Formats: sequence, structure tokens, C-alpha cells
Amino acid sequence: VRTAAVIPAAGRGVRLGPGAPKALRTLGGTPMLIHAVRALAASRSVSLVVVVAPPDGAAEVKSLLDAHALPDRTDFVVVPGGETRQESVKLGLDALPPGHDIVLVHDAARPLVPVDTVDAVIEAVREGAPAVVPGLPLADTVKEVEPAAVPGGPEPVVATPERARLRAVQTPQGFDRATLLRAHETVTDEVTDDAGMVERLGLTVVVVPGHEEAFKVTRPLDLVLAEAVLARRRL
Ligand code: CTP
Ligand code: MG
Repeated sequence: VRTAAVIPAAGRGVRLGPGAPKALRTLGGTPMLIHAVRALAASRSVSLVVVVAPPDGAAEVKSLLDAHALPDRTDFVVVPGGETRQESVKLGLDALPPGHDIVLVHDAARPLVPVDTVDAVIEAVREGAPAVVPGLPLADTVKEVEPAAVPGGPEPVVATPERARLRAVQTPQGFDRATLLRAHETVTDEVTDDAGMVERLGLTVVVVPGHEEAFKVTRPLDLVLAEAVLARRRL
């Protein structure tokens, strides 16, 4: 079964602070996006990678892909992204040629995902799940709150979900292609992940074990962690 990967990389990275778009910032001297592309292309099942570039950065992303060694067996396509992650993923899906039955969606901001996690997601889709997400148990207890009366003030807690049943979900998320396309065509609510759109269709999404190194680079401290993980890998 041929697998394609869409990598949304069009975000600015506001929470990381001022600088280049997040996907183009470097880790160990190499742009985060290149790490993410390599992580997905490392899977032997992945024959196509669609990179969704910052809206004005498609040419720059193309030349980055040309400048870095990537597997020959994989094809690469670059398209410009949109205002939201959801729009960017849709633009990536629109660029998919026919012939791939499984589609992965992977954040460029998760540059260090191990190939075993990628393969585990693909395997679960192959075995028949329409949507698969890697997830990990939470270390912190989670509270649901109501908005504070004044901004920055105390927030009343309304519920404490049972922690053992919660999972923090990562990417790549894997889908039966037709299911993901239908979700992106029919679901208009704002969601924070692609699997959430498939849930809106009434289908069951399954969680497989994620990996600590698939964490998302979101805030400055995450860059420190990512550099440390890379340095440890290079030992
Ligand atoms: N993304 C995208 N298009 C957007 C917004 C986000 O392709 N309009 C991508 C990001 O490039 C990232 C992934 O979606 O790889 C996950 O989003 P996030 O971590 O929130 O990245 P940013 O939106 O760039 O960061 P921030 O929210 O801090 O601005
Ligand atoms: Mg964002």
C-alpha cells in the first residue's frame, strides 16, 4: 500500500518568539523542516512527501529540499500554505496525485519523531483503522476551567477528567485517504488536529503508542530539548 505524507510547515511560530518561520529555524544546523521530512521519508512505505510551505516561502523550501540529501525512492512536492493549519493541510491534500491509499499528516514542528512511530501508525491504518493517532499518557493532571472573571485572574475549575484515560496526541496521524479527504471536504468546525475532523464524521479514531521524541517544538524551552535530543543521537 503506497503512503503519502503531508507536512504542514506554513506556520509562523508565534509562541517560539521572533525569527524566521518556525519550520525554517535550525536544529543542529539543519532546518526543522528538513529533519521532519527525513523522519517521514525514512519509512520505506512513504513514497511521496508534500510539504506545505509558508505562503511566501515555497521557492525557499524547494531549494532547501534540493540542498539536503533525501532518499531517492521518495518524491517531493511543495505547495504554499494558508492562514490556519487546517487550511494548510487542505492545500496539501489538494496537491496529492492519485495512487496513495494511506495519507499521513505530520507537523514540521515535530522534527524528531522516530521512524518506528511512523511505521506503527501506517501499520494500524493498513490493518483497517480509518484514522490513527500516536498518543502518550499525561504526566500532569488536567483541569477543565471556566474563563476568569478578569483576564489573568483565577479560573474556576469545572471538571477533572480521569487522567489515566487521557492521551496527549502527536503526529504523524494516519488515515485511509478517502476518509481524510471526506473529512476535509465536509467538516467546517475549527479543530486542532486532523483526527478530530474524522471524529466529527462519526468514525472511530484509534490511538497507538506515541514517542517522547515526537514532542512538538512550540516554545523556546522545546528548542533546548530538541537540541539535546539531537546531540544525544549523534553520540
Ligand atoms: N501550520 C501550517 N499553517 C498554518 C499554521 C500552522 O502549516 N497556517 C503548521 C505549522 O507550521 C506546524 C504545525 O502546523 O508545523 C503545527 O502548528 P503549531 O505548532 O501551532 O505551529 P505554528 O502555528 O507555526 O506556531 P504558533 O501557533 O506558535 O504560531
Ligand atoms: Mg499554531
